Amino acid sequence: MSYLLHIDASSLGDASISRQVAQSFRTQWDGPVVHRDLALSPVPHLSAAGITARITDPARHTPEEAKAAAVQQELIDEFLGAGAYLFTVPMYNYSMPSSFKAWLDQIMAQGHTLDFVNGPATAGRPAVLISARGGGYAPGTPNHGKDHLVPYLETVLGDPHTLGLDLTTVTPELTLAPHNPAMAPLIPLHEASLAEAHEQAGRLAETVGRKTAV
Ligand SMILES: Cc1cc2nc3c(=O)[nH]c(=O)nc-3n(C[C@H](O)[C@H](O)[C@H](O)COP(=O)(O)O)c2cc1C
Repeated sequence: MSYLLHIDASSLGDASISRQVAQSFRTQWDGPVVHRDLALSPVPHLSAAGITARITDPARHTPEEAKAAAVQQELIDEFLGAGAYLFTVPMYNYSMPSSFKAWLDQIMAQGHTLDFVNGPATAGRPAVLISARGGGYAPGTPNHGKDHLVPYLETVLGDPHTLGLDLTTVTPELTLAPHNPAMAPLIPLHEASLAEAHEQAGRLAETVGRKTAV
């Protein structure tokens, strides 16, 4: 039976805004879930053995290659087995937590999740990305153009030449406003962004559920 694959990458546990907004999705989600918490259980970085294992006949794998290939295969099977995806990926240093990049490097594999001739097996599957950020990145703000997380993940997860997921993004912004006195005037904007994110996440659970059931 198909499931929702929920990949979590915030290091902040229950205090994470991304995780709290993801909870609004999960509360409305009616179906099986496989949850992988990369903060609690990080996957290894892609090693030299992990790369050479991809282009070497399994019968000729060294012990290191066999071990690295087994790690990749488990993550790839888990990814391909899902019918829908929820990614909880906060902004760290204008980009993503390295734990999420390590996971991506393990699962992005030609002949498995990537197919440059026929397109990916996951093409069109519904996916939601929830990404909290301390600042604001909307047009007209000083940070506009410095978000290297959402545009990157929209390419890697959503482009038809990569994983081809049908991706919707939710970005609760200005999460540092209640903690940074210099940002105090932005608290109302943060609260509005957060409320909208929770509402959007709940609605998306129903939309994704309908698409997954088709
Ligand atoms: C290591 C680290 C780096 C961060 N870098 C940025 C950044 O570049 N831009 C930004 O707007 N916020 C940055 N923040 C703030 C986080 O994006 C913000 O706290 C957000 O709420 C984190 O998501 P979470 O609450 O789901 O953990 C950073 C936070 C941490 C811990």
